Amino acid sequence: MLASVSIRRLTKQFGPNRVLKGIDLEIPPGRLVVLLGPSGCGKTTLLRTIAGISDPTDGGIWLGERRIDDVPPEKRNFGLVFQTYALFPHLTVARNVSFGLEMRRVGKAEMARRVAAALELVGLGDYAERLPRQLSGGQQQRVALARAIVIEPDVLLFDEPLSNLDAKLRDSLREDLRALQQKLGITSIYVTHDQSEAMALGDEIVVMKDGEIVERGAPIELYRRPTYRFTAEFLGMTNVVEAEIDAGSCRLPWGDVRPLENPDAGNVEGVAIRPEDLLIEPVESGGHGTIEQSMFMGAATHYWINAAGRTFRSIASGGGSAILPKGQQVRLVPPARLHLLQRHVAGSGSAA
Ligand SMILES: Nc1ncnc2c1ncn2[C@@H]1O[C@H](COP(=O)(O)OP(=O)(O)OP(=O)(O)O)[C@@H](O)[C@H]1O
Ligand SMILES: [Mg+2]
Repeated sequence: MLASVSIRRLTKQFGPNRVLKGIDLEIPPGRLVVLLGPSGCGKTTLLRTIAGISDPTDGGIWLGERRIDDVPPEKRNFGLVFQTYALFPHLTVARNVSFGLEMRRVGKAEMARRVAAALELVGLGDYAERLPRQLSGGQQQRVALARAIVIEPDVLLFDEPLSNLDAKLRDSLREDLRALQQKLGITSIYVTHDQSEAMALGDEIVVMKDGEIVERGAPIELYRRPTYRFTAEFLGMTNVVEAEIDAGSCRLPWGDVRPLENPDAGNVEGVAIRPEDLLIEPVESGGHGTIEQSMFMGAATHYWINAAGRTFRSIASGGGSAILPKGQQVRLVPPARLHLLQRHVAGSGSAA
């Protein structure tokens, strides 16, 4: 069954501390939605509440048409994968995975078939008889994933499942997770504070701040056309440039004028220019600024440019060209159209 999850006006209070301030969120069936936000913004609290491990103070949660607030966690049929693997150390991989099925009194033959299939899916078909301590961290997290999917859950909930792994392993498990989720098509909610993970995995990203949803959208939309400065900066490096706006266009501090792609934005905080969209051209004289610092990063070179009394960032991709030296005069070439950012005010999120 493909199920949607609906969260309505959900609040959570710990003593006087309101940690979730009225969350409204629809998660369409079969999609993977990422909850992204800084440490302490309430991501884990929201996920635990959806899982039923924590009770909401107010508001409700629906699975499809069915309200589940009062359904105990073990009856929600949700698969959980957390930061720590939480495997039983004295049980084999197969027994760790079959545990949830034993609780559900699934017959022996079917259990064996499902455990083998789940282990196969996560690439651990040959590891059934090992103990957790005989596995790497990445393999242990695959066992946790197999344990979550073997129950054929209606919903998968992930809380930073890759954060204990080293960078390379994180990347490869991230790809596998994405492929698996798409193959199984299980409605999934994935918590992270890592923006590249959010963009790589999410059908949709929900940006949170201080117990509220700031905005949500497809990764590419949020990255290219965020409503708020908070989102723009959380999703990656951004030059936020003071803008002199006039009749649908904008004059940049170094003099270039460009049309705006969203001239109707209110409460404007500036123009967003991603470093990869701000090109630089070396010139002998008459440039807009000079290179303060450069950093070769392999696939790209990062530049810090001093112009119009502040520092701008530019990223030049491709490895072929030489790195421009410090002190080099440059012209800045902004994108053809500019995007305005608005200031986010608590309670103004454009969420549901
Ligand atoms: N059981 C609890 N009792 C009191 N306060 C809590 C409890 N659990 C969480 N909080 C508080 O709720 C807020 C949100 O915590 P939460 O763990 O949901 O954040 P998070 O977004 O998951 O952060 P991180 O990225 O660091 O994991 C924090 O201020 C935290 O101190
Ligand atoms: Mg957390």
